[in-house]
Amino acid sequence: MDNNINSIGIIGSGYIGAQLSLHFATFNKDIVVFEPSQQSIDTSKKMHNEELDSRIASGKITATTKANILNNITFIDDITKIPTDTNLIIEAVPEDLPLKQKVFAKLEKICCSDTIIATNSSSISISKIEKVVKNKHTLLNMHFYPPVWDRPIVELMKGCETSNHVINKVVKLAKQTDLIPLVTKKESMGFIFNRIWHAIKKEAMHVANEGIATIEDVDRAWMVLLNYPIGPFGLMDMVGLDIIKDVFMSYYHETGKQDELPPAILTEKIERGELGRKTGKGFYNYPNPAFTDPNWLKNPDITNEL
Ligand SMILES: NC(=O)c1ccc[n+]([C@@H]2O[C@H](COP(=O)([O-])OP(=O)(O)OC[C@H]3O[C@@H](n4cnc5c(N)ncnc54)[C@H](O)[C@@H]3O)[C@@H](O)[C@H]2O)c1
Repeated sequence: MDNNINSIGIIGSGYIGAQLSLHFATFNKDIVVFEPSQQSIDTSKKMHNEELDSRIASGKITATTKANILNNITFIDDITKIPTDTNLIIEAVPEDLPLKQKVFAKLEKICCSDTIIATNSSSISISKIEKVVKNKHTLLNMHFYPPVWDRPIVELMKGCETSNHVINKVVKLAKQTDLIPLVTKKESMGFIFNRIWHAIKKEAMHVANEGIATIEDVDRAWMVLLNYPIGPFGLMDMVGLDIIKDVFMSYYHETGKQDELPPAILTEKIERGELGRKTGKGFYNYPNPAFTDPNWLKNPDITNEL
């Protein structure tokens, strides 16, 4: 039996789903994308064309390669048209448990028992989604970081009954497609990286909220000591402060711990409509945040006032 994953279904072609279809099509996988919104299909196709054109412009691929990659992707508007024997399906619909359960229950009816079905959810573990599925050994979390081709980590997490055979097949696919597979040994909210990043965000905000240091000095320490072009507050602005708050609330609902509630320094910004880069103001002002000025790093806040 061929142990390779050659055909992949993507459910939901929004921000991340569109990247997944393009990434796997680049490695000559046969891709079927189910997306109910014509607008999302149009946006995905536009993104695919622009991304591939930029690769042509930088000499990475030829126009023929572009045509072959796009040929590997078929968009469909009816989920029941997904080929029954698709090797792997990755669900990338909005972050909503009942919606994801509905999609999984439908996929179980359409696909054969060997089809591996993964969710790309950032915060919902497969152990919650799998409750509606009878055949649980082929299910897993498969979590990507955008842009998938520049941040090539995929975190894999088992459900209650996921077989090692399934994990091994997905690990093999990841390696074949230039992704680095990291397998969590236990169920973990936030997988590996996002769990650590959440702790960093939380502590950075507590340091500022408790009046220990300014947000700028927190970022200065991070940027200089880790030789990184942006600090935790700059990164939070990039992600969007409303999304950062949603993540805090997910951890709070999961753990019930008071210290997972979003800190005041964050909620006050959101109440003022300052959501980060996308609104022109967050912890910094955009489009030219202070931390991008080379002199800024060398001028810490020594006034003793927050
Ligand atoms: N955005 C990210 O950076 C990122 C990173 C990793 C994981 N994720 C996860 O990926 C999932 C999708 O996130 P996104 O940012 O791409 O969302 P998005 O809102 O950009 O895209 C979701 C897409 O799903 C479509 N959709 C809605 N209902 C559907 C259904 N029943 N069947 C098929 N498609 C349906 C929507 O039309 C939309 O195009 C979420 O679970 C999120 O946690 C997102």
